[in-house]
Amino acid sequence: MAFKPLVFSGVQPTGNLHLGNYLGAIKRFVEMQATHDCIYCVVDLHAITVWQDPVELKKQIREVTAAFLAAGIDPKAHIVFNQSRVVEHAELAWVFNCVARMGWLNRMTQFKEKAGKDRENASVGLFAYPTLMAADILVYRATHVPVGEDQKQHLELARDIAQKFNNDFSAAIAANGHDPEDGFFPLPEPLTQGPAPRVMSLRDGTKKMSKSDPSDYSRIGLTDDADAIAQKIRKARTDPDALPSELEGLKDRPEADNLVTIYAALADTSRAAVLKEFGGSQFSTFKPALADLAVSALSPVSTRMRELMADTAYIDGVLKDGGERATAIARPVMDQVKDIVGFLR
Ligand code: TRP
Repeated sequence: MAFKPLVFSGVQPTGNLHLGNYLGAIKRFVEMQATHDCIYCVVDLHAITVWQDPVELKKQIREVTAAFLAAGIDPKAHIVFNQSRVVEHAELAWVFNCVARMGWLNRMTQFKEKAGKDRENASVGLFAYPTLMAADILVYRATHVPVGEDQKQHLELARDIAQKFNNDFSAAIAANGHDPEDGFFPLPEPLTQGPAPRVMSLRDGTKKMSKSDPSDYSRIGLTDDADAIAQKIRKARTDPDALPSELEGLKDRPEADNLVTIYAALADTSRAAVLKEFGGSQFSTFKPALADLAVSALSPVSTRMRELMADTAYIDGVLKDGGERATAIARPVMDQVKDIVGFLR
């Protein structure tokens, strides 16, 4: 095995962390710690590809960090930091901007979605977002990346960049003492431990739960207290029928499906097992059970998160320490990249 297994992932500090972020990403990050060395990054450089209020941004960087820690990420055994602290991310991203082709980036669906109709007015950073993401991963020569479905295309691009770098610079890479078979960068792989639950809006079961939905009732926030969690579940949109006892019975019932999915994810079980227990029950029975489960699973996290957010000195200390340890890995990689590309240093 040429490359040591290493996990890297990032979360943007753009506000309103919710249940979808927790079940889809952070809970998995916590699980990965048992089997891998992990680096978890608050990607503030990515956040500013769209406008961020500077005062809010600082708060949100601390909030994501607090969520990582409250959920159970151990910042001593692993590494937690904010991206802008480690200059090597931006440095390698520039090299990758010169490796990646316009045509590759033009195919990125997230850019098309985020830029919308007014492409002329999108930031250059938003277009180059995927090359920075590739640099995040490859500056540590990380091999495994837990990501949701929506980030798979970006991860494929990171592999394409790693491959092209390895090819374009193969002679220099060999001259630097690397096995030409392996190349300099690994081709990072997406990590999915079973299908990640897709958590949908509590107001519309066909839309993803989103930080930008104007209705606060559409999402369970990670800092919501027990009352808020229970109330949002009570008010969640449903249809009038009882729960089915088989999975097929959830077809064309997006709201019912979503609540069952959330229950299963929080209870660490399958949707089929939830229907076995609740098939035939009305929502008047199921919702209170789900509210109890959600409160018992989430309120320790939200309580701890609120405590941590009040202790900014502690949070900032974790990020500083993580940044130093991340730099210690990234700097030698970047020095070799400079050598390989042909810079003098
Ligand atoms: N683009 C990711 C998202 O929006 C965040 C991210 C940035 C990331 N850099 C990364 C994820 C590196 C995994 C690896 O969700």
